[in-house]
Amino acid sequence: EVEERVFSGIQPTGIPHLGNYLGALESWVRLQGQHGSVLYSIVDLHSITVPQDPARLRTSVLDVAASLIACGIDPERSILFQQSQVSEHTELCWVLGCLTSIPRLRHLPQWKTKSNRKNEGSVGLFAYPILQAADILLYKSTHVPVGEDQIQHLELAQDTARIFNQKYGDCFPIPQPLLSVTRKVKSLRDPTSKMSKSDPRKLATVNITDTPDDIRLKFRKAVTDFTSEVTFDPENRPGVSNLVAIHAAVTGQTVEEVVHQSEGLETAQYKHVVAEAVIQKFSPIRAEVQRLRADAGYLEKVLSRGAEKAKERASVVYQEVRRRIGF
Ligand code: ADP
Ligand code: NA
Repeated sequence: EVEERVFSGIQPTGIPHLGNYLGALESWVRLQGQHGSVLYSIVDLHSITVPQDPARLRTSVLDVAASLIACGIDPERSILFQQSQVSEHTELCWVLGCLTSIPRLRHLPQWKTKSNRKNEGSVGLFAYPILQAADILLYKSTHVPVGEDQIQHLELAQDTARIFNQKYGDCFPIPQPLLSVTRKVKSLRDPTSKMSKSDPRKLATVNITDTPDDIRLKFRKAVTDFTSEVTFDPENRPGVSNLVAIHAAVTGQTVEEVVHQSEGLETAQYKHVVAEAVIQKFSPIRAEVQRLRADAGYLEKVLSRGAEKAKERASVVYQEVRRRIGF
């Protein structure tokens, strides 16, 4: 019986937002203790596929480390590390890149959305899904928590594992997705698109460390519609339905329970209710991020200890890869 190994990554592009939390981090926390081993990587190599300011990148790595720990990732139960500190990620990426065809990569969503219309992205952006495959396979991961938007990238990792195994003998388990069941959180300014840290619109994205006043303002300004009633109908009422989904998720209730409770409220009153629920959920997390963020030394120690543990495992797998390919 194969030991279950979970791997997932998050880019160091600032403090996580409500969508990251509900769509990913919350389940990352839950997975600790449910599987043999759990690795979470702050994937800085991925983040430089688009331009990054060095000082901001350095800050972001610590922001994300603090955020993950504050959300409940326990460095004693999970291996929490910075991707670039384990050089085997790039080494395996090269090997896997040599097994991947250009047409196979060209149609993947990351390239289509982030390269510009004339397809003038970097080679790194183009090859990003291979690095993702390397991240996963480097630990012989069996399970990968992913959002639906990442499923095609996981399929590439699966294909790459099969290609390697066929060519060089059985080495990698085929990693399986752990799909998030949470509905995508939508932008508060445009409820037809997902909440994203790259959304340029003001007040569109709620970060997990936003102050109560920020949160109240963002929900007060949330785009809804002309019907002042709380119903759940994502097709026809995406704005209010997004509020209902957020409300249910942060209070651990079902959508039906939330709608029932909110009967008779006008939308403006309801926005206030949701804002308060979000504040209640994230206040302790915000305080914990602030506490951790004041101790960079501690965070750096957690990351270097995590990198040591990750490297211990990665080097064993990469040695096997080397042996199999004849290095
Ligand atoms: P962003 O789109 O803000 O850059 P990422 O692409 O870095 O976020 O996503 C990191 C993780 O958070 C992924 O697992 C992704 O599926 C999840 N995620 C991102 N945005 C949302 C959202 N609006 N709702 C639910 N999950 C989300
Ligand atoms: Na994204």
